Amino acid sequence: MREIIRAEHSGFCFGVKRAIKAGEELIEQKNVKGRIFTCGPLIHNERVTQDLENRGLAIINSLDEALKGDTVLIRSHGEPKCFYEQAEKRGIELVDATCPFVKKIHNLVEEANKAGKICIIIGDKTHPEIIGISGWCNNKAYIINSEEDASNFPIDIIAEQLLISENSEIILYVVAQTTIRKEHFEKLVSIIKDKAAKYKVDIEIENTICSATDERQNSCKDTAKSVDAMIVIGGKNSSNSKKLYEIASKYCTKSYFIENFKDLPLKEVEFCNKIGVAAGASTPECAIEEVIANMSEFTLENEKNLMHEFMDEIDKSLRLPRTGDIVNGKVLQVTEKEVIVNLGCKKDGIIPKDEVSVEDNQKLADLFKEGDEIQAKVIRTDDGDIILSKKKLEINEHWDEINDALENKSIINVKVVKLVNGGVIATYKEVSGFIPLSQLADRFVENAEEYLGKVLEVRVTKVDKMKGKAVFSHKLVLTEEKTKKIEELWGRLAVGDVVEGTVMRFTDYGAFVDIGGVDGLLHISEISWGKLKHPQEVLNIGQKVSVKILSMNAEKGKISLGLKQNTPEPWTVINEKYQVGQVVSGNVVQIKEYGAFVELEPGLDGLVHISEVAHKRVTNIADEISIGQEVSAEILDIDTERKRISLSIKATLEAPVQEEAPVEEAVEEVEA
Ligand code: F3S
Repeated sequence: MREIIRAEHSGFCFGVKRAIKAGEELIEQKNVKGRIFTCGPLIHNERVTQDLENRGLAIINSLDEALKGDTVLIRSHGEPKCFYEQAEKRGIELVDATCPFVKKIHNLVEEANKAGKICIIIGDKTHPEIIGISGWCNNKAYIINSEEDASNFPIDIIAEQLLISENSEIILYVVAQTTIRKEHFEKLVSIIKDKAAKYKVDIEIENTICSATDERQNSCKDTAKSVDAMIVIGGKNSSNSKKLYEIASKYCTKSYFIENFKDLPLKEVEFCNKIGVAAGASTPECAIEEVIANMSEFTLENEKNLMHEFMDEIDKSLRLPRTGDIVNGKVLQVTEKEVIVNLGCKKDGIIPKDEVSVEDNQKLADLFKEGDEIQAKVIRTDDGDIILSKKKLEINEHWDEINDALENKSIINVKVVKLVNGGVIATYKEVSGFIPLSQLADRFVENAEEYLGKVLEVRVTKVDKMKGKAVFSHKLVLTEEKTKKIEELWGRLAVGDVVEGTVMRFTDYGAFVDIGGVDGLLHISEISWGKLKHPQEVLNIGQKVSVKILSMNAEKGKISLGLKQNTPEPWTVINEKYQVGQVVSGNVVQIKEYGAFVELEPGLDGLVHISEVAHKRVTNIADEISIGQEVSAEILDIDTERKRISLSIKATLEAPVQEEAPVEEAVEEVEA
């Protein structure tokens, strides 16, 4: 049940009530000559002032607008002394409804000024009350309204000037606007006091804050503290109403400032049980009553609605959900086999474990806990039990996700669960789809068994939710990855780079080497500085090799590689390894009529001239040495310009001993 609490002191204060009464009496007076006016609105309430105006009490903004014989009502704020003087001079009648509390301040500052005291008014210099008060001390008062004003109060200059004028007694005389907050007044006074103390200046303080304001503010504060929402009623220009709103907001976050019942924030306070009402000094009683009446009406209406909602709830609780319904509920209990859910009706729902998507080794307790708000689909209501399924609820979402993946060309993960004719069945959450054998990999798959149980990244290629069909492709993902990798590689590689690769396959003219997703051709002529008949002579499939990129053709997607470039060309370093006279060994690689070629190292063959094969006369080299035979030979000459090495096997062999002819025979021959 909603409660509306009216702050004890709210609405017109004594001074305002008195001024309105004076205005009404003036309107009623039959013997008033001329027109009747108020100088400025009587109170900050449009409705009241409009009503008075309609009844003949018009508003003027300055005395200049009135003529001799007119009557002007002085409102509760009061007017400066010159106002009275001017009216008298011009024959304008005055009805003085200045609030007695304000009048008292006029007298105080007038006296203080006469006594040579320095008047300080704490308040808003633009407020008519302050303009009036100031006018009673010859407009000589210092008007201070903020801490900054107080800090800048020129006590030093005042003290100096008064000393010069030989007025040794300086007294500051402080009064307050009737409607300001006490704390504000005290704060500013304390700053001024400190300044006065510094210059040993006396200070007299008159707290002229009206108790009506204090009482209104205190009762607003007390009410705001105890309610859920606070409504402050007042005119937009009413400073005391604005102050009330400030106070209310401090103690109640849901505080609203309104002018009349039309501004009531009914929606915002809809669920507030206790609402406080406070009203500024110029808020008429009828406005307060209207606000309270409208809120009460709304409360009744609201309560009726709540009652309907309550009845609906009861109705809902009696009605059991039907198969196919999507229901919301709160988890009551989680066992190993099921989850019990309070559905807000007279029966609880049950979610069996197999109606929940659980990963291997996952328990229901890992997924649900008591008090969780959940949603599920009713799949059966037989035997008096309401059987629910999370899976069936989720399956729709999962189909949507698959559809999204198809539309957005995004990748999803599926698990291969079954081998079927022509491919495999893979599941995405609760949805099963088909992967044809040709789409399982980017190579030929003979046996899909190796994929069983594996999680694959796939693209969705077809979805038919109505028929419950989805087709996936892992090949597309692999191909895209490969293409991406190749693009990256092409961007990264440059001619001259040395990269690691793996020998993948041979041809008669070379070997293909995988250099990180791209195959490059290692031509047979680029494998070794020597001559090869087949790359297999030096390479094996799967062998890791460092190869140099010799050329790249992005258009044709071809890369040429070189292996021999990893070692210097033998003729460029010949002098470092070989010298004339050095005995070297090598295999005979070729036999010609004029000599045999011996390979000292790949790319470096030496020629053993036929005359250097043996000490004896050789007519057919093949009679002495054979191809593939390892021989030792001495280097006879190195011709770097013509790239020729002359070798001699003979030089490494011991020369046969020559048989000498007998001396006697020789003599005989000579003699004969
Ligand atoms: Fe007078 Fe106090 Fe009202 S000064 S006008 S009674 S607020």
